[in-house]
Amino acid sequence: MRLKSKKIILGITGSIAAYKAAMLLRLLVKESAEVQVVITQAGKEFITPVTLSALSGKPVISEFFGANDGTWNSHVDLGLWADLMLVAPATASTIAKMANGIADNMLVTTYMSAKCPVFVAPAMDLDMFAHPSTQKNIEILKSFGNSIIEPSVGELASGLTGKGREWKNPKILLKLLLNISIQESTKRKTFLVTAGPTYEKIDPVRFLGNFSSGKMGYAISEELADSGANVILVSGPVSLKTNKKNIQLVKVESADEMYVKCLSWFPNCDGAVMCAAVADFTPVVVEKKKTKRGSENWSLELQPTIDIAAKLGELKSEKQILAGFALETNDEISNAKKKLESKNLDFIVLNSLNEEGAGFQVDTNKITIIDKSNNQQFFELKSKKEVAVDIVNKIKSIIK
Ligand code: C5P
Repeated sequence: MRLKSKKIILGITGSIAAYKAAMLLRLLVKESAEVQVVITQAGKEFITPVTLSALSGKPVISEFFGANDGTWNSHVDLGLWADLMLVAPATASTIAKMANGIADNMLVTTYMSAKCPVFVAPAMDLDMFAHPSTQKNIEILKSFGNSIIEPSVGELASGLTGKGREWKNPKILLKLLLNISIQESTKRKTFLVTAGPTYEKIDPVRFLGNFSSGKMGYAISEELADSGANVILVSGPVSLKTNKKNIQLVKVESADEMYVKCLSWFPNCDGAVMCAAVADFTPVVVEKKKTKRGSENWSLELQPTIDIAAKLGELKSEKQILAGFALETNDEISNAKKKLESKNLDFIVLNSLNEEGAGFQVDTNKITIIDKSNNQQFFELKSKKEVAVDIVNKIKSIIK
């Protein structure tokens, strides 16, 4: 589902590596991408359009015109439709045509009409790849802003060994595409993340707090930052540090301070991930002097803190994404769903204290993501860093 709603043009040319394009196509469709295959004449000698249309669920496009029926394929419409174009495998001939505007087939005309990011995966014999003309054309494509997926070194179909083999495994290419699509969707966006516990002062030396380490919120902030986003990390007292350039750390202590900071930052953000374990209650009176030990009991009167997530849920615009966490001990799913609704969240990350390895202090977490359409994704026990990747992928899938 990680490429849900992504429109991808898969250009296939006449290389023996075309068979791998069928496997890649299958992986893309499994990730819910909408894929239109455009194939050259030579490409069809290596892999049949029937295989490709069966896998993509769409007729394969190869010709400009229909079979004498006056219909034609608009490369302009197709080029504008795509979110991403990938030419894999790309022969020396297609690379040369793309670099020099030789628009004599559907694939190259579509490429020239496309406004989306373009990725090119060369696949050819080592001498063809090393030839100065190919190298020059690749440089030209790079100067156009296209990304070249460097071929690997290995055994080639000719029997020779060298650089020219297209990506080794379609899974590697898929991973690359997923990374790119995360980068694209979160790039230049700004997210607010809350992390850690809050400390509610009782007197000058005592506070009410909780066991939150901040690890999950910091991991999410770093993952967002690595995806090209700017992050405002509003953090309660933790021992963690972050030195990423695009994370602005805003240190707070109490729930009230966290609320004030969130309120001022949220209107300028594209979304917020509420990961902090905010104290639900705070003392009504903060004693000015340390309360001395005595033989009497000491009762504290507590009042509820403001629910920051719910407040941001009220303020949220159509374009903003709001995610929250639910740490539950019983009736996990139904409690999490209630919070999702009452706080007006787009999705909620549920972790249960009953799960071994999930919760406070530990480096791992086991989560379930529930969104407002009631899609439920269950994840394995993973490191908090890996969990952060899943959460950021969910954000990415919501951003259009
Ligand atoms: O209602 P509960 O505290 O279980 O909800 C947890 C979610 O709400 C978390 O995302 C937490 O960061 C957020 N929250 C908040 N402000 C509070 C209490 C919780 O933002 N005062």
